[in-house]
Amino acid sequence: MGWLSKTFTSSVGKKLIMALTGLFLISFLIVHLSGNFLLLRNDNGAAFFQYSEFMKTNPVILVMEVVLFLGFIIHAFSGFRLALENKKARPVGYAVNRPSENSSVFSRSMVWTGSIVFIFLVIHLKSFFVDHKVASWMGVTHEETLFQAVVSAFQNPVYTWFYVAAMVLLGFHLNHGFQSAFQTLGLNHKKYTPLIKKLGLIFSIVVPLLFAYVPLYFLLIYKTTGGN
Ligand code: HEM
Repeated sequence: MGWLSKTFTSSVGKKLIMALTGLFLISFLIVHLSGNFLLLRNDNGAAFFQYSEFMKTNPVILVMEVVLFLGFIIHAFSGFRLALENKKARPVGYAVNRPSENSSVFSRSMVWTGSIVFIFLVIHLKSFFVDHKVASWMGVTHEETLFQAVVSAFQNPVYTWFYVAAMVLLGFHLNHGFQSAFQTLGLNHKKYTPLIKKLGLIFSIVVPLLFAYVPLYFLLIYKTTGGN
């Protein structure tokens, strides 16, 4: 066990943890985005209801949810520790290091963008996960369905624009995180690195845009057309 704990507490080990948990969270984003698009069906939330009931009761999903929460916590915790260690190991300070010449604005702002996405996540989970899913596990019955809760939450412009702003920062975080994860895993190659960077850029623009579309749809389109 000694080598294993040494590996994971070393700087390289922590980067490896960041990369693996980061890629796992990226895969979650794709699944979550597909589920969110059911909200846009013209069926008064029927398809979304079926999906959310399945997500609420399927034992495999419940286990995955625990893994997911651990993934978020480990990713955030290792990120903070790594950033602190990097700061300590840089005794001369930023002025001499000229960070703008050695790294991108995206890589330098990972702690900030990650922290704001984390705050977004806490608020987001309170709205939908705790107040609905956890509440129903605890036997609390709601007058409104999860779909209705989503609709009414996004009728609030402050709440919706907060989501949109958080998605911009998620995009910044993913832009560096995506390529950095592959680099940590050793995929640093003349031929493939530019391709991974391009893929990362596309992913970090398209995925947050599609996420942001759902709240904006309920704020701007659903209301005016009368929706479903
Ligand atoms: C911006 C548009 C988003 C919308 C409309 C949205 C909507 C929802 C809804 C309705 C739920 C409850 C699902 C259920 O109980 O079945 C949920 C859960 C959750 N969301 Fe989001 N979400 C969005 C973005 C995000 C983002 C960007 C992340 C991650 C950074 C995220 C992470 C989660 C997590 C971890 C859960 C709890 C796990 C689960 O219930 O599956 N969400 N979201």
